Amino acid sequence: MTTTSLLAIEHVRKSFGDNVVLRDVSLTVEPGQCVVLIGASGSGKSTLLRCVNLLETVDDGRILLAGKDITDPRVSADAVRARIGVVFQSYNLFPHLSVIDNITLAPVRVHMVDRADARQRAMAMLERVGLAEKAHARPDDLSGGQQQRVAIARALVNDPQLMLLDEVTSALDPELVGEVLDLLRELKAEGMTMILNTHEMGFARQVADEVCFLHGGYIHEKGPPAQVLGDPQEERTRQFLSRIHSL
Ligand SMILES: Nc1ncnc2c1ncn2[C@@H]1O[C@H](COP(=O)(O)OP(=O)(O)O)[C@@H](O)[C@H]1O
Ligand SMILES: [Mg+2]
Repeated sequence: MTTTSLLAIEHVRKSFGDNVVLRDVSLTVEPGQCVVLIGASGSGKSTLLRCVNLLETVDDGRILLAGKDITDPRVSADAVRARIGVVFQSYNLFPHLSVIDNITLAPVRVHMVDRADARQRAMAMLERVGLAEKAHARPDDLSGGQQQRVAIARALVNDPQLMLLDEVTSALDPELVGEVLDLLRELKAEGMTMILNTHEMGFARQVADEVCFLHGGYIHEKGPPAQVLGDPQEERTRQFLSRIHSL
Protein backbone atom coordinates (compact mmCIF):
# COMPACT_ATOMS: atom_id res chain seq x y z
CA MET A 1 0.00 0.00 0.00
CA THR A 2 1.47 3.31 -1.02
CA THR A 3 -1.50 5.57 -0.41
CA THR A 4 -2.00 7.28 2.94
CA SER A 5 -5.53 7.56 4.25
CA LEU A 6 -6.50 10.93 5.66
CA LEU A 7 -7.49 9.16 8.85
CA ALA A 8 -6.58 5.67 9.98
CA ILE A 9 -8.02 4.32 13.22
CA GLU A 10 -6.07 1.17 14.06
CA HIS A 11 -7.25 -1.36 16.65
CA VAL A 12 -8.45 1.29 19.05
CA ARG A 13 -9.51 0.16 22.49
CA LYS A 14 -11.13 2.42 25.06
CA SER A 15 -12.65 1.63 28.46
CA PHE A 16 -14.11 3.69 31.26
CA GLY A 17 -13.32 1.66 34.36
CA ASP A 18 -14.79 -1.81 33.77
CA ASN A 19 -16.89 -0.57 30.88
CA VAL A 20 -15.07 -1.53 27.67
CA VAL A 21 -16.71 0.78 25.14
CA LEU A 22 -14.44 0.24 22.14
CA ARG A 23 -12.84 -3.23 22.03
CA ASP A 24 -11.05 -3.20 18.72
CA VAL A 25 -12.10 -0.56 16.24
CA SER A 26 -10.34 0.01 12.94
CA LEU A 27 -11.50 2.41 10.25
CA THR A 28 -9.91 4.37 7.43
CA VAL A 29 -11.26 7.56 5.92
CA GLU A 30 -10.08 8.82 2.54
CA PRO A 31 -9.99 12.49 1.54
CA GLY A 32 -13.47 13.73 0.62
CA GLN A 33 -15.19 10.71 2.12
CA CYS A 34 -18.18 10.91 4.41
CA VAL A 35 -18.35 8.08 6.94
CA VAL A 36 -21.52 7.75 8.99
CA LEU A 37 -21.46 5.96 12.36
CA ILE A 38 -24.70 4.38 13.51
CA GLY A 39 -25.49 2.31 16.56
CA ALA A 40 -27.58 2.17 19.70
CA SER A 41 -27.23 4.81 22.38
CA GLY A 42 -24.13 3.93 24.41
CA SER A 43 -22.46 1.95 21.60
CA GLY A 44 -19.47 4.31 21.62
CA LYS A 45 -20.10 6.59 18.65
CA SER A 46 -19.29 9.77 20.58
CA THR A 47 -16.37 8.10 22.34
CA LEU A 48 -14.84 7.18 18.99
CA LEU A 49 -15.13 10.76 17.73
CA ARG A 50 -13.72 12.05 21.02
CA CYS A 51 -10.73 9.73 20.65
CA VAL A 52 -10.05 11.14 17.16
CA ASN A 53 -10.15 14.67 18.53
CA LEU A 54 -7.94 13.67 21.49
CA LEU A 55 -10.65 14.54 24.00
CA GLU A 56 -10.17 10.95 25.19
CA THR A 57 -6.90 9.02 25.26
CA VAL A 58 -7.03 5.57 23.72
CA ASP A 59 -6.04 2.58 25.88
CA ASP A 60 -4.58 0.67 22.97
CA GLY A 61 -4.19 1.01 19.22
CA ARG A 62 -3.43 4.25 17.45
CA ILE A 63 -4.92 6.92 15.23
CA LEU A 64 -3.07 8.38 12.27
CA LEU A 65 -4.01 11.72 10.72
CA ALA A 66 -2.44 12.11 7.27
CA GLY A 67 -0.02 9.36 8.21
CA LYS A 68 1.06 10.86 11.52
CA ASP A 69 0.33 9.10 14.81
CA ILE A 70 -1.71 11.65 16.77
CA THR A 71 -2.13 9.31 19.73
CA ASP A 72 1.60 9.54 20.40
CA PRO A 73 1.75 11.36 23.75
CA ARG A 74 4.41 13.71 22.43
CA VAL A 75 1.99 15.16 19.88
CA SER A 76 0.40 18.51 20.78
CA ALA A 77 -3.35 18.09 21.17
CA ASP A 78 -3.92 21.75 20.27
CA ALA A 79 -2.03 21.32 17.00
CA VAL A 80 -4.13 18.27 16.13
CA ARG A 81 -7.40 19.98 17.08
CA ALA A 82 -6.51 22.94 14.86
CA ARG A 83 -6.72 20.52 11.92
CA ILE A 84 -10.01 18.92 12.94
CA GLY A 85 -13.35 20.74 13.09
CA VAL A 86 -15.81 19.44 15.66
CA VAL A 87 -19.53 20.09 16.01
CA PHE A 88 -21.61 18.64 18.82
CA GLN A 89 -25.30 18.11 19.39
CA SER A 90 -25.44 21.13 21.70
CA TYR A 91 -23.87 24.02 19.87
CA ASN A 92 -21.95 25.31 22.92
CA LEU A 93 -21.97 28.91 21.78
CA PHE A 94 -21.15 31.49 24.45
CA PRO A 95 -24.38 33.42 25.06
CA HIS A 96 -22.63 36.64 26.13
CA LEU A 97 -20.56 36.85 22.94
CA SER A 98 -21.75 37.93 19.52
CA VAL A 99 -21.85 35.35 16.76
CA ILE A 100 -18.63 36.61 15.19
CA ASP A 101 -16.81 36.72 18.55
CA ASN A 102 -17.85 33.11 19.17
CA ILE A 103 -16.15 32.18 15.92
CA THR A 104 -12.96 34.18 16.44
CA LEU A 105 -12.45 33.21 20.08
CA ALA A 106 -10.39 30.05 19.54
CA PRO A 107 -8.36 31.31 16.57
CA VAL A 108 -7.32 34.45 18.48
CA ARG A 109 -6.86 32.97 21.97
CA VAL A 110 -5.62 29.45 21.23
CA HIS A 111 -4.15 29.58 17.78
CA MET A 112 -2.71 33.11 17.99
CA VAL A 113 -4.27 34.27 14.75
CA ASP A 114 -4.21 38.04 14.20
CA ARG A 115 -7.57 39.53 15.28
CA ALA A 116 -8.29 41.30 11.97
CA ASP A 117 -7.45 38.19 9.99
CA ALA A 118 -9.61 36.10 12.27
CA ARG A 119 -12.59 38.44 11.83
CA GLN A 120 -12.20 38.45 8.07
CA ARG A 121 -12.04 34.69 8.00
CA ALA A 122 -15.02 34.42 10.39
CA MET A 123 -17.11 36.67 8.13
CA ALA A 124 -16.21 34.51 5.14
CA MET A 125 -17.36 31.41 7.05
CA LEU A 126 -20.59 33.13 8.13
CA GLU A 127 -21.23 33.95 4.50
CA ARG A 128 -20.49 30.32 3.69
CA VAL A 129 -23.21 29.12 6.06
CA GLY A 130 -25.62 31.87 4.95
CA LEU A 131 -25.56 33.92 8.16
CA ALA A 132 -23.39 36.95 7.41
CA GLU A 133 -26.20 39.29 8.48
CA LYS A 134 -26.20 37.69 11.95
CA ALA A 135 -22.53 38.42 12.71
CA HIS A 136 -23.33 40.86 15.50
CA ALA A 137 -26.37 39.11 16.91
CA ARG A 138 -26.28 37.13 20.15
CA PRO A 139 -26.75 33.37 19.87
CA ASP A 140 -30.06 33.58 21.79
CA ASP A 141 -31.50 35.73 19.01
CA LEU A 142 -30.97 32.92 16.51
CA SER A 143 -33.03 29.81 15.88
CA GLY A 144 -31.55 26.45 16.88
CA GLY A 145 -30.78 25.69 13.24
CA GLN A 146 -29.01 29.02 12.81
CA GLN A 147 -27.01 28.45 16.00
CA GLN A 148 -25.93 25.07 14.74
CA ARG A 149 -24.86 26.65 11.44
CA VAL A 150 -22.78 29.15 13.46
CA ALA A 151 -21.19 26.20 15.29
CA ILE A 152 -20.37 24.68 11.89
CA ALA A 153 -18.89 28.01 10.73
CA ARG A 154 -16.78 28.03 13.90
CA ALA A 155 -15.57 24.51 13.15
CA LEU A 156 -14.69 25.51 9.57
CA VAL A 157 -12.75 28.63 10.46
CA ASN A 158 -9.37 26.89 10.75
CA ASP A 159 -9.83 25.26 7.36
CA PRO A 160 -9.89 21.77 8.90
CA GLN A 161 -8.76 18.64 7.09
CA LEU A 162 -11.47 16.65 8.77
CA MET A 163 -14.85 17.40 10.34
CA LEU A 164 -16.35 15.37 13.19
CA LEU A 165 -20.09 15.87 13.63
CA ASP A 166 -21.75 14.28 16.63
CA GLU A 167 -25.54 14.13 16.25
CA VAL A 168 -25.62 17.74 15.12
CA THR A 169 -29.34 17.71 14.35
CA SER A 170 -30.57 15.72 17.36
CA ALA A 171 -31.35 18.73 19.53
CA LEU A 172 -33.17 20.63 16.78
CA ASP A 173 -36.87 21.00 16.23
CA PRO A 174 -37.84 18.87 13.22
CA GLU A 175 -38.48 21.85 10.96
CA LEU A 176 -34.92 23.12 11.56
CA VAL A 177 -33.11 19.87 10.76
CA GLY A 178 -33.25 20.38 6.98
CA GLU A 179 -31.21 23.58 6.87
CA VAL A 180 -28.35 21.95 8.79
CA LEU A 181 -28.42 18.78 6.70
CA ASP A 182 -28.46 20.91 3.52
CA LEU A 183 -25.31 22.65 4.72
CA LEU A 184 -23.58 19.33 5.43
CA ARG A 185 -24.59 18.09 1.98
CA GLU A 186 -22.95 21.17 0.46
CA LEU A 187 -19.76 20.67 2.48
CA LYS A 188 -19.60 17.09 1.30
CA ALA A 189 -20.09 18.23 -2.31
CA GLU A 190 -17.21 20.68 -1.83
CA GLY A 191 -14.96 17.80 -0.86
CA MET A 192 -14.92 18.08 2.93
CA THR A 193 -13.93 14.87 4.70
CA MET A 194 -16.40 14.04 7.45
CA ILE A 195 -17.22 11.48 10.09
CA LEU A 196 -20.66 11.87 11.54
CA ASN A 197 -23.02 10.20 13.95
CA THR A 198 -26.64 10.59 13.05
CA HIS A 199 -30.05 9.03 13.38
CA GLU A 200 -31.09 10.64 10.09
CA MET A 201 -31.00 7.49 7.99
CA GLY A 202 -32.37 9.19 4.87
CA PHE A 203 -29.53 11.68 5.03
CA ALA A 204 -27.00 8.91 5.69
CA ARG A 205 -28.20 7.10 2.58
CA GLN A 206 -27.70 10.20 0.48
CA VAL A 207 -24.31 11.45 1.64
CA ALA A 208 -22.44 8.54 3.21
CA ASP A 209 -19.73 6.80 1.27
CA GLU A 210 -19.62 4.24 4.03
CA VAL A 211 -21.89 3.40 6.96
CA CYS A 212 -20.42 1.74 10.07
CA PHE A 213 -22.68 0.04 12.60
CA LEU A 214 -21.12 0.01 16.08
CA HIS A 215 -22.11 -2.81 18.37
CA GLY A 216 -20.42 -4.64 21.23
CA GLY A 217 -17.28 -2.51 21.00
CA TYR A 218 -16.66 -3.34 17.34
CA ILE A 219 -17.68 -2.08 13.94
CA HIS A 220 -20.13 -4.92 13.58
CA GLU A 221 -21.00 -4.21 9.94
CA LYS A 222 -19.82 -1.66 7.43
CA GLY A 223 -20.28 -0.92 3.78
CA PRO A 224 -22.00 1.38 1.31
CA PRO A 225 -25.27 2.84 2.65
CA ALA A 226 -27.42 0.94 0.17
CA GLN A 227 -26.04 -2.28 1.59
CA VAL A 228 -25.83 -1.58 5.35
CA LEU A 229 -29.09 0.37 5.53
CA GLY A 230 -30.95 -1.29 2.67
CA ASP A 231 -29.79 -4.88 2.84
CA PRO A 232 -27.94 -5.48 6.13
CA GLN A 233 -26.16 -8.81 6.37
CA GLU A 234 -25.96 -9.00 10.15
CA GLU A 235 -28.88 -9.79 12.43
CA ARG A 236 -27.85 -7.10 14.95
CA THR A 237 -27.84 -4.47 12.24
CA ARG A 238 -31.31 -5.53 11.12
CA GLN A 239 -32.59 -5.35 14.70
CA PHE A 240 -31.14 -1.89 15.19
CA LEU A 241 -32.58 -0.56 11.94
CA SER A 242 -36.02 -2.01 12.61
CA ARG A 243 -36.07 -0.22 15.98
CA ILE A 244 -35.07 3.05 14.32
CA HIS A 245 -37.66 2.69 11.58
CA SER A 246 -40.45 1.93 14.05
CA LEU A 247 -39.83 5.22 15.93
N1 LIG B 1 -16.31 10.29 30.27
C1 LIG B 1 -16.91 9.12 30.49
N2 LIG B 1 -16.77 8.49 31.67
C2 LIG B 1 -17.36 7.30 31.91
N3 LIG B 1 -18.11 6.65 31.01
C3 LIG B 1 -18.29 7.23 29.82
C4 LIG B 1 -17.70 8.49 29.48
N4 LIG B 1 -18.06 8.81 28.22
C5 LIG B 1 -18.82 7.80 27.77
N5 LIG B 1 -18.96 6.85 28.71
C6 LIG B 1 -19.69 5.59 28.56
O1 LIG B 1 -19.28 5.00 27.37
C7 LIG B 1 -20.35 4.36 26.72
C8 LIG B 1 -20.48 4.88 25.31
O2 LIG B 1 -20.92 6.22 25.34
P1 LIG B 1 -21.00 7.12 24.06
O3 LIG B 1 -19.71 7.06 23.32
O4 LIG B 1 -21.49 8.45 24.49
O5 LIG B 1 -22.10 6.34 23.20
P2 LIG B 1 -23.00 6.87 21.99
O6 LIG B 1 -22.46 8.17 21.53
O7 LIG B 1 -22.94 5.78 20.96
O8 LIG B 1 -24.40 7.00 22.56
C9 LIG B 1 -21.58 4.59 27.59
O9 LIG B 1 -21.74 3.45 28.39
C10 LIG B 1 -21.20 5.79 28.41
O10 LIG B 1 -21.83 5.77 29.65
MG1 LIG C 1 -23.25 10.02 21.47
